Amino acid sequence: MRAMKKPEVNIALIGSGFMGRAHSNALRQVSAFFNLPVRPVLKILGARNPDSGAVLADQFGWEEVLPDWRSVVERSDIDIVDIVTPVNTHAEIATAALEAGKAVICEKPLAGSLAEAAQMAKAAHDSGLMTLCTYNTRAAPAAAYAKELILSGALGRINQWRSAFQQSWLVNPDFPLTWRLRKDSAGSGALGDLGSHSIDLARFLVGEVKAVSAMLHTFTQERWIPIKDIGRASVPSDQKGQVEVDDSAWCLLEFENGARGTMEATRMASGRLSANRFEVYGSLGGLSYDFTRMNELEFFSFQDPLPQQGWVTIHATLSDHPYARNWWPAGHSLGYEHTFTNLLADFFHAYAEGKKAAPDFQDASRTQAVLEAIERSGAARSWVDVEQV
Ligand SMILES: NC(=O)c1ccc[n+]([C@@H]2O[C@H](COP(=O)([O-])OP(=O)(O)OC[C@H]3O[C@@H](n4cnc5c(N)ncnc54)[C@H](O)[C@@H]3O)[C@@H](O)[C@H]2O)c1
Repeated sequence: MRAMKKPEVNIALIGSGFMGRAHSNALRQVSAFFNLPVRPVLKILGARNPDSGAVLADQFGWEEVLPDWRSVVERSDIDIVDIVTPVNTHAEIATAALEAGKAVICEKPLAGSLAEAAQMAKAAHDSGLMTLCTYNTRAAPAAAYAKELILSGALGRINQWRSAFQQSWLVNPDFPLTWRLRKDSAGSGALGDLGSHSIDLARFLVGEVKAVSAMLHTFTQERWIPIKDIGRASVPSDQKGQVEVDDSAWCLLEFENGARGTMEATRMASGRLSANRFEVYGSLGGLSYDFTRMNELEFFSFQDPLPQQGWVTIHATLSDHPYARNWWPAGHSLGYEHTFTNLLADFFHAYAEGKKAAPDFQDASRTQAVLEAIERSGAARSWVDVEQV
């Protein structure tokens, strides 16, 4: 018997770096593991860098590689534009793609500033087209199950949020001044890069943030300018430049529903490679997630009989856990790359059904408002209401 042919949707991916690989992989895998109503086609790779473009096209099977993103987003055979370039380029590329009538997927943080994020959210709203900002931690089965547990009432009234996203790559004083350390290309430092994930999760799991009180700091003020900016592998020149963004950020959070919490984002935590952690505490129990053990969710419930009370480890690989049934039999763990595939699976289902994806540009621009409030609070050394930014 012949398989029914699904409608094809043609994708253009702009960018061929770290996220270029992650998204290419997810786009390649998603229809193999999820029963999607459409079939994504890896049509055009927009790669400014011809070397990484050629490698990616070869590895993942992109049909065509073009150097200029403008000609790509205007191509009449493209349905969806997926943006995986540095933060400062998101607004221009996304707006042009929406104006050309394409649905848009964009990496986090949505933009380098709230003004740009608001422009993107408006362009999305005016176009009526679908958008997605790839806050992928939401789509780790254990993190998605945390949401289900909270919605089920298992934690009762949520009182506290605690998050820390810690990396260590800036402890090295010789790490060069790449685009992630420049305000004009990244918007902010650890805050926008790592803290944005935590704020997205805080909003996803607890609710909207009302007010913030923050401290940002740049421990290493000057770094070597790279000869060519190719991320972590950049070769430094013999000239130093000013680091314009934070190495670390800390913040107190007041939520609209009365919960309170803390957030920490840092690239200066020695030995922490990518420790993305959060804890939620409610009147009936608590939960704790650590990306370095990303298949597990720690759960505590006051509803368990007293002698049995204690933290239990849920291995979120059962068919009842979000996304897990699409992968392997129970007990077989998933990795970082699966979070992108899971999020894109949700996106393609929504795309086919004409529904909104989550988090869309409106949603991600609310995360951006919290990031902006954190920056202003840090600069002013005082509490800032998110509504007032
Ligand atoms: N969700 C996650 O877990 C995650 C992880 C890492 C990065 N990101 C986000 O993904 C985005 C890209 O990060 P990355 O790590 O892939 O960066 P990268 O430096 O590895 O790759 C950036 C790519 O963009 C291209 N590029 C740079 N300037 C451009 C321009 N003006 N026009 C067109 N192309 C241009 C580069 O040639 C390169 O291919 C950022 O928004 C970043 O915050 C998300």
